[in-house]
Amino acid sequence: MNCIWSEHIQGVMTLYLSRKLRFDDLFFEQYDRLFQLDRNREWKILEIGCGPGALSGALHRWYPGARITALDRDSNFIAFAREHIPGVTFVEGDALRLPFESEAFDVTISNTVQEHVEPAAFWGEQRRVLKPGGVCLCLSARKGIRCTAPCLETTEEEKAFWDSLPSSGEELRKYGVCRYPLSEAELPASMEQHGFRNVTTGYAVIDLTPDAEKYSGKLAEAMIEEGRQSSLEAIRSVSSMHAEAAVAAVNRKYDERLRLYRAGIRQWDTAVSITMMVRGVK
Ligand SMILES: C[S@@+](CC[C@H](N)C(=O)[O-])C[C@H]1O[C@@H](n2cnc3c(N)ncnc32)[C@H](O)[C@@H]1O
Repeated sequence: MNCIWSEHIQGVMTLYLSRKLRFDDLFFEQYDRLFQLDRNREWKILEIGCGPGALSGALHRWYPGARITALDRDSNFIAFAREHIPGVTFVEGDALRLPFESEAFDVTISNTVQEHVEPAAFWGEQRRVLKPGGVCLCLSARKGIRCTAPCLETTEEEKAFWDSLPSSGEELRKYGVCRYPLSEAELPASMEQHGFRNVTTGYAVIDLTPDAEKYSGKLAEAMIEEGRQSSLEAIRSVSSMHAEAAVAAVNRKYDERLRLYRAGIRQWDTAVSITMMVRGVK
């Protein structure tokens, strides 16, 4: 049982809800432009480091003929994904030693995983399990834009909570989080150095602005709730005498954000995520 990521780094709901928004069907065309996968083909797709499974769930909707397998080494993520994402086979395992035969897949894909896995193994294992001519898709988060609504600014209760904890930097280093970061230029170069050809790059820009009229009320409220749930999950993941007050403060401020949204009083808070996508062929 390995639950290091979900217990110490990012919780299940934090990853699931944020990715469910980023991989909403509204944004499919942006991904599709770079993936260049025929929607009607019976692809065998492997997702590496799938977390709670939101990207695999989207792939299942977007490529209905595909057979999708998704792997992660965190047991909590795999248990959640098995329960909530239909149509995908979830496997607990290590990206450094993929438990699959050579040349078993047409496509491998990952989202925000490359920077945590030693590059020779990360690319090498994907090359091994890809068929000749198979496609490797590597999605990587880049610096985005975040602008908070006044009613969502960090409260005194949250400050007291976070100030009561030791800095998390040491823990992230201990678990090897982001040990292999690559710049926008290094990422495609690394893919080429590890034997992939026809490498191309592109970017998906996902604008999550609840007050923008282009979004339905359901999606706008999901954006607001995503912020609430990830704040609550972060607070509940550690014990502190300040936790209860921080939880109450978070709930109060997000209740107020929802009230303003429902009353049509716009805040224009926004989170724009930029995902670099690199595509290479074996
Ligand atoms: C930033 S999270 C991204 C999860 C998921 N791709 C998403 O976007 O929601 C990184 C994921 O990589 C997984 N991971 C890191 N190293 C791994 C390894 N060697 N083998 C398998 N999974 C790994 C972690 O467990 C975690 O789920």
